[in-house]
Amino acid sequence: MAPVVRAPQTLIEEAVQILRAGNLVAFPTETVYGLGANASDPTAVRKIFELKGRPPDHPVIVHLDDPRYLHRWVREIPPCAQALADEFWPGPLTLIFPRADNVNDLVTGGQDSVGIRIPSHPLAQQLLTAFGGGIAAPSANRYGRLSPTRPEHVREEFGDEVPLILDGGESLIGLESTIVSCLDNRPRLLRPGFITLSQLTAVVGPVETRAGVAADEQLPRVPGDRAQHYAPLTPLEIVPIEDLEARAGEFTERSEKVAVLAMRPPLQTRRYLTWVNAGKKPETYAHNLYNHLRRLDRAGCVRILVQEVPADERWAAVRDRLQRASIAGSESLEISAA
Ligand code: TXA
Ligand code: MG
Repeated sequence: MAPVVRAPQTLIEEAVQILRAGNLVAFPTETVYGLGANASDPTAVRKIFELKGRPPDHPVIVHLDDPRYLHRWVREIPPCAQALADEFWPGPLTLIFPRADNVNDLVTGGQDSVGIRIPSHPLAQQLLTAFGGGIAAPSANRYGRLSPTRPEHVREEFGDEVPLILDGGESLIGLESTIVSCLDNRPRLLRPGFITLSQLTAVVGPVETRAGVAADEQLPRVPGDRAQHYAPLTPLEIVPIEDLEARAGEFTERSEKVAVLAMRPPLQTRRYLTWVNAGKKPETYAHNLYNHLRRLDRAGCVRILVQEVPADERWAAVRDRLQRASIAGSESLEISAA
């Protein structure tokens, strides 16, 4: 588990100077590391898109330290958003609001809405408070790739292209925030995360899920929609537990290196086989997922086989990310996020 980290104030001041000068700072949150820019400075926000290689029509989340600044960014606070904010902020929840008029189109992706998150990580809080404004921050990875859960992941991804990476150790949760749209006061789950559907429902009553939304209905855009997202470079395949050893065998028998991410140890060890047992606890599995995938991605294998995870809602966020990372997940959608 991540230690509670606070940065020396001089380092925070340096980060604030960089942000005010219109440059980028990577910082830890309890979910994943973010690539931050002054959300009120379009030139700075544009740098995020350039560095990530992210299409300009994808909105970014604005991070605040406290709801007291919400009115600068949102036109109104729907009652369901108020209830969810009261319950889960600060924390791993992003809420989609009607945007205030002055919010830049680069932040909103040209939509009439804006995504806001108040993270709980002490270092993120420290930075946001010292900065005194909104920090626009997507996950600090190249477009379509695995989100970083450690400062060294950000360094591997961007080298010296990010002037400062604040080191908050390992992200406690390890998967991106739960995203709920509160537009028209209709709670809709856009991205599953650590906060589960039943936790949301307990606060606001029925929450629409993406599966429940009519196919022809215009949904707010979520970059994670584009295949292939949250993906390693090695093709990833989801395999039911009963087929795992046999499927791995098809590769090893051809002397091809194969990686397996499973919830149990292998029945036998084999040449050409790299096996990671990620265990059976959803929180621990999620916490380690991107780190495991990064490691397996570097193992020089032709395929990463991932044991299918359980269907219950504690696994919903993990299932979602694995589906998006998988070759099947990308083939089912037409657009490919290179
Ligand atoms: O945990 C997280 O949410 C991390 C940390 C850094 O806060 N951030 C993150 O950002 O995952 P990003 O950009 O990688 O994913 C944010 C998602 C995107 O899918 C984006 O489309 C969606 O939030 N989003 C942001 N604003 C939106 C809006 N106005 N309407 C619909 N979706 C929005
Ligand atoms: Mg991302």
